[in-house]
Amino acid sequence: MPSLRQLTVESLTHLMESGQCTLGVDEDARKILREWMLSARKGVASPPPVPPPSPNAGLQCVEEKLAYLQQRAQNWKPARALGTLRDTMVFAVGNPHARLMLVGEAPGYDEERLQEPFVGRAGQKLNQILAAAGLPRESVYISNICKFRPSMGPDQGMANRAPSDAEIAACLPIILAEVRAIHPECIICLGGTSAKGLLGSGASVASLRGKWFECQGIPVRVTYHPSYLLRNDTLQAKRAVWEDFLAVMEHLHLNITPRQRGFFLPA
Ligand code: URA
Repeated sequence: MPSLRQLTVESLTHLMESGQCTLGVDEDARKILREWMLSARKGVASPPPVPPPSPNAGLQCVEEKLAYLQQRAQNWKPARALGTLRDTMVFAVGNPHARLMLVGEAPGYDEERLQEPFVGRAGQKLNQILAAAGLPRESVYISNICKFRPSMGPDQGMANRAPSDAEIAACLPIILAEVRAIHPECIICLGGTSAKGLLGSGASVASLRGKWFECQGIPVRVTYHPSYLLRNDTLQAKRAVWEDFLAVMEHLHLNITPRQRGFFLPA
């Protein structure tokens, strides 16, 4: 028999998918929902059935699950209903069997054009970091918290903005379902928006770095977004990000050479 939690999630999902984005709840209900949300983030509760499990209950392999999620994301009403995100859906890229999953913020101009996450300047920077870590882009799974480029109106041009809390919340079920499908050994949150989504923390990246967190039972590390490095081209910033990657490489028991250990240390 489905639990109260499963029934609640299913009926809320149904409401969201039919375009309803707000709901009045009393203090008691708010308390219970908050507990469920926190336990789901820690991975101690049964996985929330969002998107609803019904048609894909028989899907076995991760490729099938991702194809299903991609199709659900394409028509994801909670995001579309906001009216603040652009039309093109940008899903994810990489190895469905990856040991490492990287989660960014939202597609920008280049990503929307090519319909692939991290293909612009921030993506090139990310590729450099991954190559330095001995983790080619094709070996990892790269996705975003928000699957649509946040809109800035008709004169947006190449400008991008970070997704709002409402946009993060609307897209969250998709990335959480990706985490369950990929089930990586480790996740890296690239930037504060990603941490806000996966960890529910609005704290600064500086204060979240250097510690392990969990999302649905998967260890999570937070580091600066690659675009931060484009804005702060300093040894100190590069070393900070590199130390986060070294911690992840250690977690994955990857071979780390003395040369790699010394990257971006002052001469
Ligand atoms: N920044 C992100 O967070 N994600 C992308 O896909 C591109 C830039």
